[in-house]
Amino acid sequence: MKTTQLATESIPPGEARRIRDLAARLQAKIVRENPSSIMRRDAHPKMHGVVKAEFTIEPDLPPELRIGVFAQPRTYQAWIRFSNQSPSRGPDSERDIRGMAIKLMGVPGEKLLERQKHEQTQDFILISTKVFVTRDVAQFDDMIKAMTGSLWSKIGFFGLHWRVILNLVKSLRKFANPLQTPYFSTTPYLFGATAVKYAAIPQVRHPDKLPSAPGDDYLREAMIAQLRREDALFDFAVQLQTDARAMPIEDPGRAWDESASPWRKLATIRIPRQEFDSEAQRVFGENLSFTPWHCLPAHRPLGGINRARRVVYDLISAFRHEWNQAPRREPASWDIDAPQVGSTEPSAIMRSAVMPGTKK
Ligand code: HEM
Repeated sequence: MKTTQLATESIPPGEARRIRDLAARLQAKIVRENPSSIMRRDAHPKMHGVVKAEFTIEPDLPPELRIGVFAQPRTYQAWIRFSNQSPSRGPDSERDIRGMAIKLMGVPGEKLLERQKHEQTQDFILISTKVFVTRDVAQFDDMIKAMTGSLWSKIGFFGLHWRVILNLVKSLRKFANPLQTPYFSTTPYLFGATAVKYAAIPQVRHPDKLPSAPGDDYLREAMIAQLRREDALFDFAVQLQTDARAMPIEDPGRAWDESASPWRKLATIRIPRQEFDSEAQRVFGENLSFTPWHCLPAHRPLGGINRARRVVYDLISAFRHEWNQAPRREPASWDIDAPQVGSTEPSAIMRSAVMPGTKK
């Protein structure tokens, strides 16, 4: 059923069961994929780098944009993790979707997730494409089933889902440098009385070219080279939902028309010159967790794909942290050695889900 009201969700029947099935399927998948080593994220396991950043809200935003973390002109310290989506963690020259996960620190106010209610962090998660691959949870779950199944199940699924193929073709790309790539939320979020999608658009002064003989980790190397030389800058922007039918909440596989609602800048992200490529900082990045649901209620995630992420990210993050015997903690500063705040308790759902005989 299509709604005509802005920022309004409509939950299809059977979605909760689909979400539970999907979460269990993804957990079993990472156990198969990481049999005897570190248990990694199901998606975006290859990290190019986790870097220190400043997130400065624009002065003089108009009242309709002064929402949540954007209410006051101020600068938040942040961590940003850049990644490749592919579970294979293969060479960067493979076509892929790239990730940019932003964690602001020093954000006052209660957050949405009960377990992280009193944390002073807020996450924004973006990828290098404007469209998510599937329309809803059922289609995503069917795609995962097909991709982890036989050749015939793949042919059966992709033969019937041409838009999924088209969105994949648009999204799987090569990039020269993660600091020079535009990123998008693809899914919508509440923003006052309306909904928005997020984007981070790089301000590029010296554009890199794709290397002619790329090393396996050339994206990490491009970041190292740029951050030795100069700061990296992004505009953080939102696109407001202005038409509930043409800009659907329940279908992130469809981009919202930019001529009907152009991107509006809310903040500048500055990644200052820095050295980030130490072993300690890699471990710190591996152990961080991001979820779109770790946010102020003013920025609540919307739509079925985000509803699925509420369950899946918590399960997979708790599972990999317990497997790796690493505490789940939110950072409070740029100091990676400082004692961090937050719960280390694994959730009951995760404890019951560990399969006997599979632990390293
Ligand atoms: C139903 C759909 C989705 C599922 C099941 C899913 C699943 C996951 C999982 C399990 C993780 C790892 C969580 C952890 O262990 O900490 C993850 C990370 C991530 N996801 Fe998704 N995801 C979905 C949709 C999306 C969408 C729409 C975006 C678009 C922005 C996205 C972008 C990312 C990024 C960038 C990361 C890496 C975050 C980091 O750096 O730690 N995902 N996803």
